[in-house]
Amino acid sequence: MPIKISKHIQTKAPSLFPDADQASVYTAQQIAELIHQKQREGNQVTLGLATGNTPKKVYQELIRLHKNEGLSFQNVITFNLDEYYPIGPDNDQSYTYFMRHNLFDHIDIQQENIYIPQTNSTPQEVAKYCQAYEDKIAEYGGLDLQLLGIGRNGHIGFNEPGSSFASTTRLVNLHPLTREDAIAQFGTIDKVPHQAISIGIHTIMQAKRILLLALGERKSEIMNKALSGEISVDIPASILQTMSQVEYILDQEAAVLIQEEDRV
Ligand code: PGA
Repeated sequence: MPIKISKHIQTKAPSLFPDADQASVYTAQQIAELIHQKQREGNQVTLGLATGNTPKKVYQELIRLHKNEGLSFQNVITFNLDEYYPIGPDNDQSYTYFMRHNLFDHIDIQQENIYIPQTNSTPQEVAKYCQAYEDKIAEYGGLDLQLLGIGRNGHIGFNEPGSSFASTTRLVNLHPLTREDAIAQFGTIDKVPHQAISIGIHTIMQAKRILLLALGERKSEIMNKALSGEISVDIPASILQTMSQVEYILDQEAAVLIQEEDRV
């Protein structure tokens, strides 16, 4: 069981784990339990999924649960948060490739149940495409669970600082810090796309349950601001403080500033 620390601002105290492995396994268990529950009820489950370094171990654990413990994804529908624009789905830097490689190729999800923003629309068509993505989520009754990472600038999905809390799926410009953090993936800064399609903050807030996972010391500063700072579009994740369906899942390193503050 995670250790709970009490905080007065957000509705739920963060769930803290000694390391990234344990935080990731716990996160995967939450997802697996929801899938099982929906299976028992004879229902589908709609998951909002994230990319980046943070969810990789969560996906490894879900794959392990599928291979070793019989977890089936036959009733699972997935919507990914975002994708670079433009980028081809076969490009190994695309999030479509990431998801296939890190999860979908290793589980029994039905291919037609996988939704990832496709970025082959022209700039003229992209708004229509984004609305269709939004409509598709609504068609499934919204997201049952949204998995989130957090950017060092507080972004959730690619909702960069300044994004409206009322935003829905749209074409966005990437923040300089986001592009800098993507150099590891693309090689050099000039290869990092300037834009992406991202589901909106409003879309995320509509999810019935939200798990925000933050791992490592490099997320400690932003986690402190997102959890305890003022609610502002300057830190997009700060809006989650107002929402009772959010659970923050942190390893010890990501929580280091929060714990210090709590000891005072
Ligand atoms: P990361 O990215 O998991 O690669 O740190 C998280 C994010 O930008 O949302």
